[in-house]
Amino acid sequence: MNTVVLGLQWGDEGKGKAIDYLAGGFDVVARFQGGHNAGHTVYYRGQKVVLHLLPSGIFYPDCLAVIAHGVVVQPLQLVEEIRNARALGLRLDNLVLSANAPLILPFHQRLDVVFEDSRYQRIGTTRRGIGPAYEDVVGRRALFVGDLLDEQGFRSKIAVLAEYYNRLLAAWGQPAEAVEPAASAYLEAGEFLRPMVGDSGARLRRALREGKKILFEGAQGTLLDIHLGTYPFVTSSNTTIAGVFSGTGLSPRAVDRVIGISKAYATRVGEGPFPSELGGKEGERLRELGNEYGATTGRPRRVGWLDLVALRHAVQVNGVDSLFLTKLDVLDGLDEVRAAVAYESGGGRSEDFPCLAGALAGVRPVYRSFPGWKTELGGLRRIAELPGAARAYLDFIAEYTGARIGHLSVGTEREQTIAVDLK
Ligand code: GDP
Ligand code: IMO
Ligand code: MG
Repeated sequence: MNTVVLGLQWGDEGKGKAIDYLAGGFDVVARFQGGHNAGHTVYYRGQKVVLHLLPSGIFYPDCLAVIAHGVVVQPLQLVEEIRNARALGLRLDNLVLSANAPLILPFHQRLDVVFEDSRYQRIGTTRRGIGPAYEDVVGRRALFVGDLLDEQGFRSKIAVLAEYYNRLLAAWGQPAEAVEPAASAYLEAGEFLRPMVGDSGARLRRALREGKKILFEGAQGTLLDIHLGTYPFVTSSNTTIAGVFSGTGLSPRAVDRVIGISKAYATRVGEGPFPSELGGKEGERLRELGNEYGATTGRPRRVGWLDLVALRHAVQVNGVDSLFLTKLDVLDGLDEVRAAVAYESGGGRSEDFPCLAGALAGVRPVYRSFPGWKTELGGLRRIAELPGAARAYLDFIAEYTGARIGHLSVGTEREQTIAVDLK
């Protein structure tokens, strides 16, 4: 069954862990959007590995890893990641990088920082140049991975773009960005990547024809989607199901199943509304229990209770078939667990996720309380061993969202995962 795995919250739901667990049953794992703003954590032979551009299926040597054209690629970062993976003993000779993936260039990174530090746009981005790189795609002036394979062509294209960006930087009172030595470093990275560069769409369609099983790895999460998320506090790609098709060139018929990943509570990095956020000591405690520090930037993550209004919205937007619930073990020691089941605002009480950008900032969550289970779940391997209080919490999540729970994760390791069927 060709399967899409998507984050249903504000990212960092545990997609890396889930995909590493699931990928054993697949022939291909493909990233289709986002860039190195993603940080997907996988434990491999007891060692923590954080992947930013490489798909989380690389730990299975026979699995084809694909970086499709919807991904924005910073080639120096990709080369470094490939080298790091090889140092871990992974061969990584089974990787396809789309020639049509847009490049993240040094100007993009510069501008991301300039905008973040200006009073016009404070999103709390990862400062990796993601937004400006996608802007160039929409603005029809992007350079692509394939451009790196033609030195003269690349040098002349980047010179034109440098002129464009240096005008912008000058207008912002910033020094110009020199083309060298970056252009040469990018070309060198291009030579390293050359054997992997190809037509990812054609490769995926061939895999489909041959009956190979494909796993699509989402980055970020539904509430960070450029069109459906908490705009403007979002990333610049479609992190939802639509991104699979625009980002790979496959049709919706290629997808048999959608798995949505959610933590058993909620986190967010960066600015923007978060109705069920916990402040003060309670928040600090949950952050420490969940070790909630960003995998990409190291920033402390904001934490809060599970928001079922937002989660049901994400389930419906993506057509989620089953939930993969992570970090249930983090709640082990709590006397009480809460989940938001409605929002209150000037307009009264609602169970609907607001459609207006900004409206979320004005709502107060209405909570339902659940007794804690006060049992360590890290060693749980069979659903029958799940304490009744935890079971009641999960049953409510499935009932409220209308999605069955297909997997439970109770720790960072691959083995700390249980396949279940809770409706
Ligand atoms: P991703 O971006 O969705 O792949 O998630 P991140 O890797 O950024 O953050 C998830 C963090 O939670 C990582 O440090 C994982 O190792 C960790 N993690 C994933 N699943 C579980 C779980 O079930 N329990 C615990 N305690 N940690 C988990
Ligand atoms: P994974 O794949 C959590 C957030 C940033 C910021 C906003 C825009 O690991 O779940 P950007 O750099 O994309 O322009 O930043 O999006 N953000 C993430 N938050 N996990 C991620 O990826 C994220 N990628 C971007 O913190 O709020
Ligand atoms: Mg992450």
